[in-house]
Amino acid sequence: MCRLLVLLFAANAMAHDIITTNLTFTRDISRIFDRRCLTCHGSTAEIPLSKYEQARPWAVAIKEQVLSRAMPPWGAVKGFGNLKPDHALTQEEIMIIAAWVIGGAPQGNPDWLPKQAHGKPAMPPPTIKNALTAANQTTLTEPLQVAGIRPLADAVIDSARITARLPNGAVQPLIWLYHYDPKWNRDFLFREPVLLPRGAVLESTAPVRFVLETRK
Ligand code: HEC
Repeated sequence: MCRLLVLLFAANAMAHDIITTNLTFTRDISRIFDRRCLTCHGSTAEIPLSKYEQARPWAVAIKEQVLSRAMPPWGAVKGFGNLKPDHALTQEEIMIIAAWVIGGAPQGNPDWLPKQAHGKPAMPPPTIKNALTAANQTTLTEPLQVAGIRPLADAVIDSARITARLPNGAVQPLIWLYHYDPKWNRDFLFREPVLLPRGAVLESTAPVRFVLETRK
């Protein structure tokens, strides 16, 4: 009897969620998710977010994850190496998601959903050629123009700082992988290609394998 009352009360509270925002899932949120989340939260994922009915129960968690910048996950330390922060939500996207949740997370008109198929990233990935698979200490036998790094791992990489020691003694930071999950299968791209001269020594503070990518 008591449990039934609680259930009734919960159902009632849901039905009477007060909507205080003009932002909607179909018009605003689905477009951000398309670009930023569905590569990992597509329809076959453990936590799918492509439909309103799937995303709605996660609304509060979604707000927390984006405000704390835990999602989308990156797996590297910011400011180490000159990497493009292309994974991150813009401040505006974060505010839109948070305001939508705080405003009652309404669905909106289903006709407003993006026409484009869910889960396709808006931008095609860059063409990259695998240039070199380096372990924890590798000396380059020829100069290399590096566009990005792709970690190769079987398990989560706790922490690995990858640098290049140049022939003139300078140390060039490349990337600091941190709690990187190989499931994410991420390419970390540099803002500008990094030119590594012949004789540069790639070093890592932990034994990780990774591929240095050059553009075709
Ligand atoms: C690179 C892959 C990836 C991307 C992109 C991504 N996520 Fe996730 N997300 C995960 C994984 C994996 C988990 C499962 C928890 C874990 O292992 O960290 C997760 C878990 C979550 C959770 C559940 C957290 C909890 O409370 O347990 C939410 C909510 C979430 N993601 C929201 C988002 C949103 C919103 C976006 C886009 C802005 C996003 N994620 C983008 C991989 C991703």
